[in-house]
Amino acid sequence: MSVPASIGVFDSGVGGLSVLAALRTELPDEAFVYFSDAANAPYGERGDAFVIERTLAVARRLVDEHGIKALVVACNTATAAAIALLRSAHPGLIVVGVEPALKPAAAATRTGHVGVLATRGTLVSLKFKALHDSLQGGRVRFSLMPCDGLAGAIERLDAQAIRSLSHQYVQGLGRFGDLPGEIDTMVLGCTHYPFIVSELQHLAGPGVKLIETGEPVAQQTRRLLAAQGRLAAGGPGSLRLLTSGEPAALQGAAARWLRPLPLPTA
Ligand code: DGL
Repeated sequence: MSVPASIGVFDSGVGGLSVLAALRTELPDEAFVYFSDAANAPYGERGDAFVIERTLAVARRLVDEHGIKALVVACNTATAAAIALLRSAHPGLIVVGVEPALKPAAAATRTGHVGVLATRGTLVSLKFKALHDSLQGGRVRFSLMPCDGLAGAIERLDAQAIRSLSHQYVQGLGRFGDLPGEIDTMVLGCTHYPFIVSELQHLAGPGVKLIETGEPVAQQTRRLLAAQGRLAAGGPGSLRLLTSGEPAALQGAAARWLRPLPLPTA
């Protein structure tokens, strides 16, 4: 019996675990290989050339050494810089990216003002500019905040830096509330940020809607696999963790942030 092909999931570090959690819920029968490029994280302030080089190298490794059938780029910064090049380098591979959820936020806001937290790399990218431009001229205004250092602080579990940077960036977006012009919806445009959602919710206020992308990305992955008849059926699902950094740090993060896979039923 041949081993079923796995799904690669990749991020600069632990942030992609927030997407992996949604993927495992949506696709419990699949075998996942998660790669954290922690030795080179964070990507957000490194510039396109570096992020492109790393993304192509990681994808090549996952294809050559793990024979993946699909790759989820669970990193907004890498998606923005490299997804087009990745698709041309691997035409047979199902490639799914993530981007800040501006469209769902525009649909959700009632005040017409949305705050967006993301890395500098994402916000200055042409891909993000195209998305942002496509929503200009409507009733919704987006306030953008490059969060230098925040993904790195989450990566290091540096509670003090997380607290002070989150405070600085959330307050810097403007006034939150449900009056016209106030921010009532905030986009978490980096896959690291869902791990500090309670901190962010506390700073923005309980009535503010926070939007991330794990679930829609997982559903899109399912759709693309199903369209090619490549969904795994009957499980059991599995997970392999790989990193260019410290394996113990990634295992610790996975233990903290991922629920254990349900045991296969007999
Ligand atoms: N988690 C990533 C993102 O979604 C990258 C953060 C970083 O490495 O700066 O953008």
